[in-house]
Amino acid sequence: MTHFTLTVATSRDGFISRTTNEPPQDWASAEEQELFFRDVEAADWAIMGRNTHQAADKPHRRRIIFSSKVSGWQRPTQLWLDPAGLTECDLAGAVADVYRMEKVLILGGTRVHDWFLAHRAIHKVHLTIEPVTFGQGLPVFSAQTSNDPAAVFRQAGFEVSSETVLNGAGTRYLELVAE
Ligand SMILES: NC(=O)c1ccc[n+]([C@@H]2O[C@H](COP(=O)([O-])OP(=O)(O)OC[C@H]3O[C@@H](n4cnc5c(N)ncnc54)[C@H](OP(=O)(O)O)[C@@H]3O)[C@@H](O)[C@H]2O)c1
Repeated sequence: MTHFTLTVATSRDGFISRTTNEPPQDWASAEEQELFFRDVEAADWAIMGRNTHQAADKPHRRRIIFSSKVSGWQRPTQLWLDPAGLTECDLAGAVADVYRMEKVLILGGTRVHDWFLAHRAIHKVHLTIEPVTFGQGLPVFSAQTSNDPAAVFRQAGFEVSSETVLNGAGTRYLELVAE
């Protein structure tokens, strides 16, 4: 069975980005980046939307990129597809000839989070909350009603299994599991 982990960094007021083309390393802490790359290295595949892919293009990584406009293998390890009409169970079969899909990292953005939430296919969440305030930007989920990132995930059906503070600035790191 494929295991899906959503890894996400947010501002303290619940945004994943100020714009559609801003890489998180522009504002996330070094500690967040270390944990993020640990997750990337551990995953068989990462899944993301077109903007997230283009904001951090890595030609050699194994990626599935959601798009309604582009489809097919654009690089040997990068499959673009429209997930409409698919379920999370179809994804492993789509890439099986290239590499196994046992551990998957969901990398966003908002509509990719929405798609996996709608399919109840997020097993675990790695949430880093940075001590920055954006005021406006892209939410974790389109329908979120709270500005508190931990509350956003609790309301979406996850419970906190651990919480630590990563540095002196107050960056929080939470692991959550689907209830
Ligand atoms: N803080 C974090 O942890 C984090 C995580 C991820 C991203 N980000 C940041 O967030 C920004 C990008 O997020 P975003 O929400 O704008 O975009 P995104 O999800 O990366 O990209 C949006 C595009 O992806 C495609 N797409 C996404 N979901 C789809 C679906 N369900 N069906 C069909 N196509 C789908 C569509 O492409 P087409 O137009 O080709 O159809 C859509 O226009 C960037 O700045 C990125 O760095 C931050």
